[in-house]
Amino acid sequence: MSRRPQIAIDGPVASGKSTIARLIADRLGYTYIDSGAMYRALAWAARKRGLTGRQEEEAAALARDIAIRLEPIPGGGNRVFVDGVEITDEIRTLEIGQLASELSAIPAVRERLVAMQQEMAAEGGVVMEGRDIQTVVLPDAEVKIFLTASPEERARRRRLELQSRGTDVDFDQVLEEVKRRDHRDMNREHSPLRPAADAVHLDSTGLSIEQVVEKVLEIVKERCG
Ligand code: DC
Repeated sequence: MSRRPQIAIDGPVASGKSTIARLIADRLGYTYIDSGAMYRALAWAARKRGLTGRQEEEAAALARDIAIRLEPIPGGGNRVFVDGVEITDEIRTLEIGQLASELSAIPAVRERLVAMQQEMAAEGGVVMEGRDIQTVVLPDAEVKIFLTASPEERARRRRLELQSRGTDVDFDQVLEEVKRRDHRDMNREHSPLRPAADAVHLDSTGLSIEQVVEKVLEIVKERCG
């Protein structure tokens, strides 16, 4: 039986992939899966237990033990649960993002989360966004988009997002954070952030959200008919 298409959208922090992936899923009636939220959920649980990114074995055991669940919000993102407790909003802090990035460099952690993501996408009809979706999680995805924007544009977007959640941070601090996470996500030994050989590269600097959505929908049409 042939499955429905899989759409993989990868890119660096604040490249707009969540916004774009959500809108594409909504337009196509597909399920949106935020894989980064799963690493953030693990970071939330790790932080609660006082673990750091250096405690590899403990983090791997935690990844095996906890139940991470994503629930689609119609027309929106994902509600996030760890062991039945909703943590959707709590995981959206710089601190949790940083710890998620550190924990995501641990191979046994990735192995566990990748297996969960593959299971969630098995039937297709999904738009999954992250760092390694097109290279590792769904290498057979019909559509692979590598979405980028300049670090300054991404820091500006990230700052606006944090402000909308009531956190006011200095632009330079956000820019530094963006660059630090880029560096770690792109240079880690396991599954670094990089485009697949057959990815379509899209630079969203200076483009409106609608313009990017239109471009992605065109690519989907080309690839999936
Ligand atoms: O997309 P995000 O900022 O919510 O992701 C948080 C961290 O999780 C990110 O810095 C790296 C990691 N991550 C990953 O390694 N692989 C993914 N597929 C998604 C996220």
